[in-house]
Amino acid sequence: MPEPLSPAPPIARVAGTGSALPERVVSNAELVRELAARNVETSDEWIVSRTGIRQRHLAAHGVGTVDLAEGAARAALNAAGAKASSVDLLIVATSTPDQVFPSTACSVQARLGAAGAAAFDIQAACSGFVYAMSLADALIRTGSHRRALVIGAEVYSRILDWNDRSTCVLFGDGAGAVVLEAGTSPGILASRMHADGARGSILTVAGRFNQGSAVGDPFLRMDGKAVFKLAVDVLESSAREVLALADLAPEQVDWLIPHQANVRILAASAKRLGLPLERVVVTVDRHGNTSAASVPLALDLARSDGRVRPGQTVLLQGVGGGFTWGSVLLRM
Ligand code: ACO
Repeated sequence: MPEPLSPAPPIARVAGTGSALPERVVSNAELVRELAARNVETSDEWIVSRTGIRQRHLAAHGVGTVDLAEGAARAALNAAGAKASSVDLLIVATSTPDQVFPSTACSVQARLGAAGAAAFDIQAACSGFVYAMSLADALIRTGSHRRALVIGAEVYSRILDWNDRSTCVLFGDGAGAVVLEAGTSPGILASRMHADGARGSILTVAGRFNQGSAVGDPFLRMDGKAVFKLAVDVLESSAREVLALADLAPEQVDWLIPHQANVRILAASAKRLGLPLERVVVTVDRHGNTSAASVPLALDLARSDGRVRPGQTVLLQGVGGGFTWGSVLLRM
């Protein structure tokens, strides 16, 4: 007697997306004026030509990572038509939690009333959201979880040295979220995560708590040129890796949604894959670099404005401190 066929394992599909951005929008012109008051010299021309950034959202005093994460989560649940009580897994990717613990995810869970769901943060800097999606996908495939809230949330403005013009003009605050749920139609086709800790020193926030005080440098430091070069290399290799796993060619990707660090990195990555810039979702111009929040913010924007549509193939990519990188290839 042949053994009965086992049912196909569940596939994780995107059921809804959401965003939350701080109200305050700071244009380059306003930032240039504020920095000039500190004797920090920069210009709109320098920022736009080197990075493509024109404005960023900055959190007001008292607005934390949990607040933004909660807002994005509620919007994603609403878009999915799902109740918080039906969520059984909640992962927040952040490197700017409001506190050491309880985790951001546990705080969000309490606010949403997603009682009983597994909840934890992961820290992979700007790759955090892609790491979190890969993890949620794996847990859904095993059948142990059925509906996940995957959130990227950051308040980078709190770890920037506003006297360092080479970094403070680059970042913004915000959060994006995705509801991933078990289904049978194509969702996540392939995902892979990578890291090279030996190259960690090119992007750091080295400060830590010790014996009741903060010790070490509490600000973000970066070797911009080294980050740029490595980012372009690993975004290409990672894209090719997941495309090969799904047996797809780069030209079959409808939308490339890489981590939004710099428009020149986005353009270089698209060129290496032979994709026109028109198929890249670009938000760095309006959000700046929001680290783990940048990919879900971009996905949500492109879904809301009708660019990303059901049935399309989308490649999400993260790259950042650690050094970390990864990709998630999915069919919407
Ligand atoms: N305004 C004006 N001048 C500036 C500014 C500024 N905000 N920042 C630096 N400069 C000056 C430097 O002092 C330097 O002057 P000098 O030649 O007199 O010494 C000059 O501009 C050139 O500086 P570079 O660092 O060589 O500039 P570069 O062309 O490499 O651009 C940048 C810098 C935009 C950071 C680029 O290296 C880059 O995009 N790197 C990628 C890093 C990135 O995006 N990181 C984000 C976090 S990591 C991540 O998300 C993956």
